[in-house]
Amino acid sequence: MRRLWRSTLDHLTPYEAGPSLEALKAQLGLAEIVRLSANESPLGPSPRAVEAIRAEAPRAHLYPDAGATALREALARTLAVGPESVILGNGADELLGLIAWAALEAGDEVVIPHPAFEPYATLVALAGATAVRSPLADYRLDLDDMARRVTSRTKAVILCSPHNPTGTIIPSAAFRRFASGLGGDPPLLVLDEAYRDFADDPEGADGIAALPACPTLIVLRTFSKIAGLAGLRVGYGVARPDIVAMLNRVRAPYNVNRLAQAAAVAALEDR
Ligand SMILES: Cc1ncc(COP(=O)(O)O)c(C=O)c1O
Repeated sequence: MRRLWRSTLDHLTPYEAGPSLEALKAQLGLAEIVRLSANESPLGPSPRAVEAIRAEAPRAHLYPDAGATALREALARTLAVGPESVILGNGADELLGLIAWAALEAGDEVVIPHPAFEPYATLVALAGATAVRSPLADYRLDLDDMARRVTSRTKAVILCSPHNPTGTIIPSAAFRRFASGLGGDPPLLVLDEAYRDFADDPEGADGIAALPACPTLIVLRTFSKIAGLAGLRVGYGVARPDIVAMLNRVRAPYNVNRLAQAAAVAALEDR
């Protein structure tokens, strides 16, 4: 029989997001539900973001700006980086996928913490690469253990701070030590900062500040959490322009929709 599907799919379980909030309400006969498992904002989006969506809605028949120029420039100003260092994704989720698609080949290894945000391992498996799992120590990423697992086959290391699911942060000194320990020919270093805005510890690593010293660093952030825009799917990556250029080669041109771009710009303006 003709084999239609990639054999790696045999070993993948689809992500179980659970029923929609609307279905859950109907099922349980409740008027209001606060779902904690997806880390959605209980406060909702900024009223300015809602207004921006309304104002943009009549242009829904037009494709969005393929380069998300206004949003990229607004982010660049906020983060004090060049706009060519910023890439937008349909959620940070998509950016993880773009990294995997652009960088991973069969035989590559990716060092990830365990447990961690589940898509890391799935994307690595989808790419035919191998996830090398480093167990957490006392709920924290064990950077010494992760460093020991880096070999010449390592294509990427994924770190998460604050970590999902434990909420622990990587201290900036430890991050700097880890990054410089990767040597002169480092793998990609992905720092997932989806929950960065919820951590106020001044000792915490700041991916954007670390960029000048880390040539292969890709910082991932999102409008889903602090900005309460999870339903619109907007995330962004910040990295050196040569890395962003490679990710743009595998990015679909209209990956972030018009309403999402407008809402994210408005949310950025509403600290
Ligand atoms: C650690 C972590 N990274 C990335 C994401 C994905 O964020 P987005 O909604 O932007 O795809 C999440 C979402 O829950 C997350 O917990």
